[in-house]
Amino acid sequence: MKTSLSRRKFLGLSGLGLAAAALAACTPELPPVSPAPPSPTSDQSPPSSPTPHPTTAPTRSPTHPPADVAIALAAVPASVAILPGQPTQVWQFRGQVQQGDPAILQPVPNAYLGPTIRVQKGQRLRITFTHDLPQESIVHWHGLHVPAAMDGHPQYAINRGETYEYAFEILNRAGTYWYHPHPHGITGPQVYAGLAGFFIVHDQEEQALGLPSGEFDIPLVIQDRAFDGNNQLVYRPNGMMDQMMGFLGDRILVNGQPDFTLPVATRPYRLRLLNGSNSRIYKLGWSDGSPFTVIGNDGGLLEKPVQRPYITLGPAERVELWVDFSNRAVGEEIVLRSLPFPAPAGMMGGMGRGMMGQGQGRMGGAALGLGDPFDILTVRVEKASDERTTLPDRLSTIEKLHPRDAVATKTIALTMRPPNGWTLNGRTFQMTAVAPEERVKLGSIEVWEFVNNGGGMGMMGGGMMSLPHPMHMHGEQFQVLDRQISRAGRAMWESLKDGFVDEGWKDTVLVLPGERVRVIRRFADFTGLFLYHCHNLEHEDMGMMRNFEIVA
Ligand code: C2O
Ligand code: CU
Ligand code: CU
Repeated sequence: MKTSLSRRKFLGLSGLGLAAAALAACTPELPPVSPAPPSPTSDQSPPSSPTPHPTTAPTRSPTHPPADVAIALAAVPASVAILPGQPTQVWQFRGQVQQGDPAILQPVPNAYLGPTIRVQKGQRLRITFTHDLPQESIVHWHGLHVPAAMDGHPQYAINRGETYEYAFEILNRAGTYWYHPHPHGITGPQVYAGLAGFFIVHDQEEQALGLPSGEFDIPLVIQDRAFDGNNQLVYRPNGMMDQMMGFLGDRILVNGQPDFTLPVATRPYRLRLLNGSNSRIYKLGWSDGSPFTVIGNDGGLLEKPVQRPYITLGPAERVELWVDFSNRAVGEEIVLRSLPFPAPAGMMGGMGRGMMGQGQGRMGGAALGLGDPFDILTVRVEKASDERTTLPDRLSTIEKLHPRDAVATKTIALTMRPPNGWTLNGRTFQMTAVAPEERVKLGSIEVWEFVNNGGGMGMMGGGMMSLPHPMHMHGEQFQVLDRQISRAGRAMWESLKDGFVDEGWKDTVLVLPGERVRVIRRFADFTGLFLYHCHNLEHEDMGMMRNFEIVA
């Protein structure tokens, strides 16, 4: 039972029909939660049926090398208290360490989120994924460099009752990665229903820096959700419109909780922020205007700390902040906000306000549109501390990749093409299809250029359709070479550009309307099919995703 009906429906529509369908499709869809009886609220124990199921891993090597760490990870229906009153039915990852230090898994208290996985570079992991949900799924380790069969490609999706065996070595440097489902066409609803968790890697280089650790190293995932009157999650209340735009919720949750408060002491902290939202972009700012000191992003630590007046965080992107509360007074409160920014052209004008303003749109006014301001979390300074760790001015060494070493430059146009919806070079996802220009030679370096020139076709009353696309590549991390903006996208870009953290290693880069962004990366170690896609999960589910194949 997949929710691919609406996808197919969408694929069959022409540009004009699309507009009509978008207006008609405002019937709320059922949230992707199972009707199974709720299980106890914050019970992090593994599911009760660890019975071995036949493994369906297709390319599993006959003999796995011995693992340092073995984890059982299950996707299960659960029930958690999020809002006052009735508990919310969610889907949840639960984990259990079968071999290795039990502290490898850290539950996120009172939340639907999966346990935070904390491992060391060089460790060999075995993860047995058990699936107990009514639609197919598979787990992807976002940002990790693993073999193709371990990467959670949708072709390996399994059904309820089946298991998938992962075995891989942690090759990545220390950093804030994460895990989430990756079945084709239904990643959005599954992540939305609760399936996501942090995957944090430590290494010696990082440990030598003496950055705040333990309770002073805090992962925070920011997500938006919408609830009905019974506290149940509502996905895509505007149907087709939410799919084309990407889903936007009207409640902000941090680590799964509304009105999140972070109690701190007067000392430095390492805060790891993940935008785990399906499609929302945040422009993060402190209520007192303090700048941010950024020490890391998607692929780990930067060479040196950098300052930003605000931070632009697209879906799936991460930043690591050094935040020093030493000069704050006990009792003080500071709010982390999302600051206003102009919504993309064609969205609030031709499509958003105009069409959805007819009494049925959240975009039109009622709740949080893209670019509307709101509070994210409150930091409350609760106790004094005389810990005065200082921030090293050098954090890491980053090998710089040069375009002159690239064997090819690929251009990927991000376009709306009715009747297909969002496409990459006019194509949508096909399970194992690879176009000739999507092949890459093992061990080579290439430049990929993402071009966001909008629709290329008039639609929705003639407006050009152009939205931000957080472009993600599986496998190794890339470096952002440069950004160019056309006149058309200027207003949104001007308001967000100073918040990009393009330094260091990235796996997801926000490409704003009118932008072309060039990235460079290496394609080493593993052959096979990997994915690149828009990490606006509704766009991804519509097919704004393609394979690239690394060939020997
Ligand atoms: Cu986080 Cu292919 O995704
Ligand atoms: Cu990924
Ligand atoms: Cu997109």
